[in-house]
Amino acid sequence: MSGVRGKVAVVTGAGSGIGRQLALELARRGARPAVSDVDEAGLAETVVQLKALGADARSAVLDVSDRPAVEAYAAEVVEQFGVVHQIYNNAGVAGGGQTILEADWESYNRTLGVNLFGVINGTKAFLPHLIDSGDGHVVNISSLNGIMAQPTLSAYCAGKFAVRGFTETLRTEMILGKHPVGVTVVHPGGVKTGIASSSLREAQARGIEPTAEQLARVRLYNEKLLKMPADRAARIILDGVEAGKPRVLVGNDAKMVDRLVRLLPRLYPKLIVDFERKRFARL
Ligand SMILES: NC(=O)c1ccc[n+]([C@@H]2O[C@H](COP(=O)([O-])OP(=O)(O)OC[C@H]3O[C@@H](n4cnc5c(N)ncnc54)[C@H](O)[C@@H]3O)[C@@H](O)[C@H]2O)c1
Repeated sequence: MSGVRGKVAVVTGAGSGIGRQLALELARRGARPAVSDVDEAGLAETVVQLKALGADARSAVLDVSDRPAVEAYAAEVVEQFGVVHQIYNNAGVAGGGQTILEADWESYNRTLGVNLFGVINGTKAFLPHLIDSGDGHVVNISSLNGIMAQPTLSAYCAGKFAVRGFTETLRTEMILGKHPVGVTVVHPGGVKTGIASSSLREAQARGIEPTAEQLARVRLYNEKLLKMPADRAARIILDGVEAGKPRVLVGNDAKMVDRLVRLLPRLYPKLIVDFERKRFARL
């Protein structure tokens, strides 16, 4: 169980960043990726790169927060390949930038719609097929923020903590039902992708002009915190899946945060605020 060679593997949010690199690494390891993204241009570029590797790449424009569309997509993938073994629920947005007092409802609906309901939609739509495959695997991408909370990231943290709870519940149910499906929750630390800048552009498209502090925050993420190359993150994730790991921490920052939160549960919020105060005047 849990190898990737020969497996039909669905990857959401495969139009950039970690999702694209997961699709490429899956292809290199002999899997058959079915890739999707809401961003048509990014997805087309991933398909070009998959074809360059000689992969039999199937792609679809898909918004993971649209449940009927995800259900229709699951049926489509089964029809195309005859079987589906694995799903990588990777699509995500950063959201954030506002405190809970300030945050607008639309930002909660959007961030939780993608980061939490996208994962639930993908898991529920594909799970019966993964069970039928006789050797399935669900891989849900949470975050370091599925372990540790931070100011101005309430929707992101709520969604990523929930992905962990949802995924660990799924694991208990696969054990309970003796279903042949491995389950892995992934907590990446900072990975060098466009996620921070995308969330800024998305807010601007909704008419929200970023404050100086939000711009400084995105700069800090891009220049200092999002460091690990996405292809390396993808290899760590797939090594974990192939080893049948229930939980994969990606990067030393994620490993450090995991320890910090367990060792200092009362103190860690203060340490986070101290870290932020040094960088952002307002907090
Ligand atoms: N980069 C990091 O440091 C980091 C850290 C922890 C967790 N993560 C998580 O990793 C996953 C991938 O993020 P990334 O860093 O590669 O970001 P990214 O912005 O490069 O990629 C995210 C992809 O998801 C797609 N997407 C967004 N909304 C979608 C929707 N509604 N339906 C389908 N696709 C959608 C985007 O178009 C994009 O291609 C996310 O779940 C993210 O929260 C990233």
